[in-house]
Amino acid sequence: MKIDILTLFPEFFPSFFSHSIVKRAIQSGQVEIAVHNFRDYSLGKNKKVDDTPYGGGSGMVLMCQPIFDCVDALRTEDSIVILLTPDGKVYQEDFAYSLSREKHLILICGHYEGFDDRIRSICDLEVSIGDYILTGGEIPAMVIVDSVVRLIDGVIKEDSHINESFHHQLLDYPSYTKPAVFRGMEVPSVLLSGNHKKIDEYRREMMYNRTKERRPDLLK
Ligand code: ADE
Repeated sequence: MKIDILTLFPEFFPSFFSHSIVKRAIQSGQVEIAVHNFRDYSLGKNKKVDDTPYGGGSGMVLMCQPIFDCVDALRTEDSIVILLTPDGKVYQEDFAYSLSREKHLILICGHYEGFDDRIRSICDLEVSIGDYILTGGEIPAMVIVDSVVRLIDGVIKEDSHINESFHHQLLDYPSYTKPAVFRGMEVPSVLLSGNHKKIDEYRREMMYNRTKERRPDLLK
């Protein structure tokens, strides 16, 4: 998969790419990520990227030209162009699964109250990572990259996904590691029993019970 990120703050990203699963996926060639400062595409004086809003109002609005030209330079017939914006479709795990099957994502980091509305016309999807306002689309872009990259075939072991939260719309079961007793709190004895059938049953039951208790909306 190839991912292109369009931003005015490219310096946010290198540290994110150099850790953990995203780093390994880049090193093994399973994903190629490039960050583009769309200011470089501006044809305006002093590489201008924003201007005052028509009709008045506070703040500056990102202009069409730099973003349109940057997308034109990157887009192919395989591309999905995604605008990060709080009024987009709310991002969830099944959305991440479907994006992980794509060949090329172009992520546009907008700014709230923020961009010329005509920019929406070049986007295939508009995505929000939740009902709150961030100062820009950079953190949402990282959320998408992180959640998608780990789902690309072969990036992590297939069975790691099977039991994790939101797979089959259930939350994950509780995990424990050594010691078996810590400050008087015991690991459930079934997990020490070596009986894998019983352990599977226990975990499935815990997934269901946790979901019912914490996220009953997922069971509907
Ligand atoms: N930009 C600002 N807030 C955002 C959000 N919640 N989701 C996506 N992009 C955003």
